[in-house]
Amino acid sequence: MDQLAGRVAVVTGAASGIGRGMARAFAREGMRVVLADIEPSALELVRAELAATGAEALAVPSDVSKAESVEALAERAYQRFGAVHVLCNNAGVFSSGVTWEQTLEDWRWVLGVNLWGVVHGIRSFVPRMIASGEPGHVVSTASGAGLVSLAGTAGYNVSKHAVVTLSETMAQELAARGAAIRVSVLCPGPINTCITRSDRNRPSELGTSRDTRTDEKLREMLEHGMDPDQVGRIVVESIRCDRFYILTHEDLRTGVERRMRVILDDGDPAAGRRQKKRSGSEGF
Ligand code: NAI
Repeated sequence: MDQLAGRVAVVTGAASGIGRGMARAFAREGMRVVLADIEPSALELVRAELAATGAEALAVPSDVSKAESVEALAERAYQRFGAVHVLCNNAGVFSSGVTWEQTLEDWRWVLGVNLWGVVHGIRSFVPRMIASGEPGHVVSTASGAGLVSLAGTAGYNVSKHAVVTLSETMAQELAARGAAIRVSVLCPGPINTCITRSDRNRPSELGTSRDTRTDEKLREMLEHGMDPDQVGRIVVESIRCDRFYILTHEDLRTGVERRMRVILDDGDPAAGRRQKKRSGSEGF
């Protein structure tokens, strides 16, 4: 979709990090922006920031893990702007821990936001976007963790691999229908955001259970990560040129290549870990 000015974008997880970066980038393009997030006060700050630049922005506090909340978001967006052209299913949370130790609550939370949030976005918006007959683009945020399998973050990995295949599947279905809607899956490498503080949005009834070693390592890595505003610019460019796989870091390709090689060679994904264990330098 080449022309963005005057069109309408919906961004979930817009109150922080990558979502805020995308919202800012869309507003700079002259788009009208619907901002959704579970944190109303942070969301209002972003709305006010965009409004101060002259952009038209609507803030809708939402919980993407709940179908009725996302449906209400779609109703508000269409009520206010009459159309949606770009949908960014971006809200996400991070949860760490060894596969068999992650609690059922960890699994439910991370899959509820990261996977069901995307499913809800697609179910509430895509039929309306198809019915409008106007050009559209759906960008769902997966991760580098949706392309390879890193130890210590099973629930997160599962949710992100799911978003990749969901996007690949839907792109084919829309193309087969001749719909004017394109699809992208955003796979960021390390980005300097608040994702390691995801617990701030964890429902209190789910308690806490975190692998603090993984969290600490990740926090250090993300502090040196890409600026989320840069991701916003990359997404705008990718929508313009209909790029499906949006990889923010070149070295993610090396990981994909390595994984595919292991699969094609009938290899063992844990071989490297076994070697490190034998030499006494294992990680997790
Ligand atoms: P962030 O924590 O800065 O932003 C995430 C936003 O999602 C927050 O504003 C939060 O309030 C919102 N959110 C959380 N639960 C929600 C819910 N149930 N309903 C609605 N909103 C909710 O983190 P970041 O990094 O900007 O995360 C955005 C996406 O990028 C996530 O899907 C994350 O998994 C993904 N990602 C991030 C990477 C990074 O290095 N920061 C790398 C790869 C992927």
